[in-house]
Amino acid sequence: MNLLEIDKATRRYYRGGWFSRREEVKALTDISLTVREGGSVGVIGRSGAGKSTLGRLILGLEHPNEGAIRYRGKDLRQFSRQDWRQFRGEVQVVFQNSLGSVNPRWQIQDIIAEPIRNSSRWSKNDVLPRVLSLMDMVGLDPSDVDKYPHQFSGGQLQRICIARALSVQPRLIVLDEAVSSLDMLIQAQILKLLRDLQQETGVSYLFISHDIRIVAGFCDEVAIMDRGRISSKVKDLSLAKKSNDPVLRQLANSILPAWPRLAN
Ligand SMILES: Nc1ncnc2c1ncn2[C@@H]1O[C@H](COP(=O)(O)OP(=O)(O)OP(=O)(O)O)[C@@H](O)[C@H]1O
Ligand SMILES: [Mg+2]
Repeated sequence: MNLLEIDKATRRYYRGGWFSRREEVKALTDISLTVREGGSVGVIGRSGAGKSTLGRLILGLEHPNEGAIRYRGKDLRQFSRQDWRQFRGEVQVVFQNSLGSVNPRWQIQDIIAEPIRNSSRWSKNDVLPRVLSLMDMVGLDPSDVDKYPHQFSGGQLQRICIARALSVQPRLIVLDEAVSSLDMLIQAQILKLLRDLQQETGVSYLFISHDIRIVAGFCDEVAIMDRGRISSKVKDLSLAKKSNDPVLRQLANSILPAWPRLAN
């Protein structure tokens, strides 16, 4: 069954006004994409391609001007309060800018536990043990549980946000450049954790990235975005360098080799 359907979604913004001519920006044009239960879909594209805009539409933070976003078959615009409550328990997001998405005055345990406290599924006594085990899962030291965000590095904060997203056993996680700022070892560790969780729980992922290496091997399908449109969809990225899609070729060829040759 399809968990999420993006059906011919178009999103426009307007720039300027007052003293300059109002200019239309087509951030997304006619985007169609589906994520099935237990599936992983990647969205890759260069900066400004429209990836984060798509993420915001999926989360219902904004609505498309045309087309629809459906979760479990229902248009987000038709959601009742009860539907939103269920959606917020089932759909979690991790953004790249982790510092901007945590409350600086909260201890780590409260940040990670926020979705748990909003869910009726967990009793009060379960919260702390769950937070400690989540910290351990994402490679953080559980003894840091009462520290504050400014006491962590960017990569550690990113893992705190990943732990928060995993806390309520969601059905869909939108990861917008969520692992891009992590060092390679931690990145591999988190990707393995996400994959293991998928096998265990059947959670679905929508992986947004400009880095083809992160989605290669992880996603069943990858949509290539270019200037607000999907230029192609591929299942196997191993042949990306020879693809007919010039955007995909460019993304594949822009990867640095593991040991870049330094100019003399
Ligand atoms: N609120 C907004 N108002 C006006 N234009 C916007 C707004 N949000 C996004 N845009 C424009 O839409 C386009 C797509 O932006 P978006 O942030 O979705 O790109 P992206 O693919 O996520 O880029 P990056 O890889 O740099 O994060 C850009 O041209 C951006 O300037
Ligand atoms: Mg973005």
